[in-house]
Amino acid sequence: MSDPAGQRPPTQTSTTQTSAARTNSGPPAIPETPLADALLAAAGSTRASFHALPVSRRGSIRESAFADAYDALFGRGLFSEATITAPPLDSFFFPHRSLARAEELTALAFGATGTLFVTAGTTTANLIALEALITRPDVRVLADKGTHQSIHFALSDKHAAVDYIEPRVFCEHSERAALFLPVLLEQAAAAERAGAPYELLVLNGQSYDGVVYDIRAILTALAEASPSLTTVFVDEAWGAWSYFHEATRGRTALHARAADPALERFTVVATHSAHKSLSALRQGSLIHFSGDPELAERLRLGRYRHHTTSPSYPILASLDLARAQMELEGRDLVERSLRLARRVSETVAGDPALSAFSVNAPAVPDAFAGHAAIDPTKLSLKVSGLPIEAPELRERLYSRHGLYVNRCTRTSLLLNLHIGIGDEEVAALLDALRAIQRELSPAGERPEEKRVSTSFIIPYPPGVPIIVPGEEIGGDTLRRIEAIRSAGARIYTIEHRPR
Ligand SMILES: Cc1ncc(COP(=O)(O)O)c(C=O)c1O
Repeated sequence: MSDPAGQRPPTQTSTTQTSAARTNSGPPAIPETPLADALLAAAGSTRASFHALPVSRRGSIRESAFADAYDALFGRGLFSEATITAPPLDSFFFPHRSLARAEELTALAFGATGTLFVTAGTTTANLIALEALITRPDVRVLADKGTHQSIHFALSDKHAAVDYIEPRVFCEHSERAALFLPVLLEQAAAAERAGAPYELLVLNGQSYDGVVYDIRAILTALAEASPSLTTVFVDEAWGAWSYFHEATRGRTALHARAADPALERFTVVATHSAHKSLSALRQGSLIHFSGDPELAERLRLGRYRHHTTSPSYPILASLDLARAQMELEGRDLVERSLRLARRVSETVAGDPALSAFSVNAPAVPDAFAGHAAIDPTKLSLKVSGLPIEAPELRERLYSRHGLYVNRCTRTSLLLNLHIGIGDEEVAALLDALRAIQRELSPAGERPEEKRVSTSFIIPYPPGVPIIVPGEEIGGDTLRRIEAIRSAGARIYTIEHRPR
């Protein structure tokens, strides 16, 4: 992609260490935030914008009957500067000043060769990544079927030759599932033996349900099973936070490659919904890459093709601030999440006032243990001793206690102890669960033609297909769909587009 400004971002270098890991003499330096600084400076010097976004600086709402609603929802500060783009700020598509520097600092913090900022979520980031990775039709792709719908749609639209590997459910309550590594390796090895190796592996590295793959273990085994398969795309939408603590960093995609010289043969692309796990605004997302030097250009071109041409600079600035915060404070924040998760587990296990609840197994079964783990900050809470099921518990928690939980199966709620949850919120949750157990009388034991689909069948949330085109649907699948529907998800049936 040609750069109208004729300038390129500074060259980026790979590192295995975050810049927060500094030698301890005196207080840690505050990390640079070049883009946030540039936006603040613009906010200070702008009197009016003759461009767009009338609501910026509250221009269109000052006299409005809705001004209070705007202010209450968004705060007056948020309107101070949302209109200015380039110039005077750095160009989004051809960055060479503050955005280029912010992306470079982010790459360093995550141990990547380079990073691209996206303001349209990982849904778009995944599309951009696959645009860059799949450069012709019929690229042979081995894909985890448990990936987000954006990946399935991109693979289908790019006419990739996809073989799926089906994750196996290992906990019926949380519905947590993981790929079985021997199946993945055998499929990759068989393709290699047949002289038609896969060209791209796609993994859901950190799932909505809290299943985390050990990417280093997977790549190490893959290097032997299929030496020709050297390009890997890992959706780590939920996992940006995990790069900032030694207990969790080791399994991440970029760390795997940066920390192990034997894995330098791999080109790795990873995407992060920074808005899901860092202090970034929705829909701040990151695309990181390491390896093939041509990827940087292809990713920029992919961003140019697929990204809105009205990127939000407040979202971009929030990505800059969120990265700097994690460099400086991330380890402590993650440590707090780990501690709070242990506190919830121990309290639920030991408190008779919470006997109606239990935490579903916090570890994967042995057969998965070498390559998968449970995210320690995501607890699956089973409701077994109440006359209500998990969807109703979720509704009560919200309507009577103001505590919002999103993911829910028939029996269990997913509690995400992210870095925004502190002691106070955990205490409120435990108190609410105790109150609900008190209010409800204990229940007794609650009892618990095949066709080929031409469509994707996708429950949303989370947007991970249950069925992909060409798969058989039987009674078990239909019952599972019903259970998901009754847990509150919508079920979308989306036709495969034949070429
Ligand atoms: C695994 C995974 N990938 C991608 C996405 C899409 O991310 P975003 O909401 O940032 O578009 C999600 C959303 O939940 C997800 O769970």
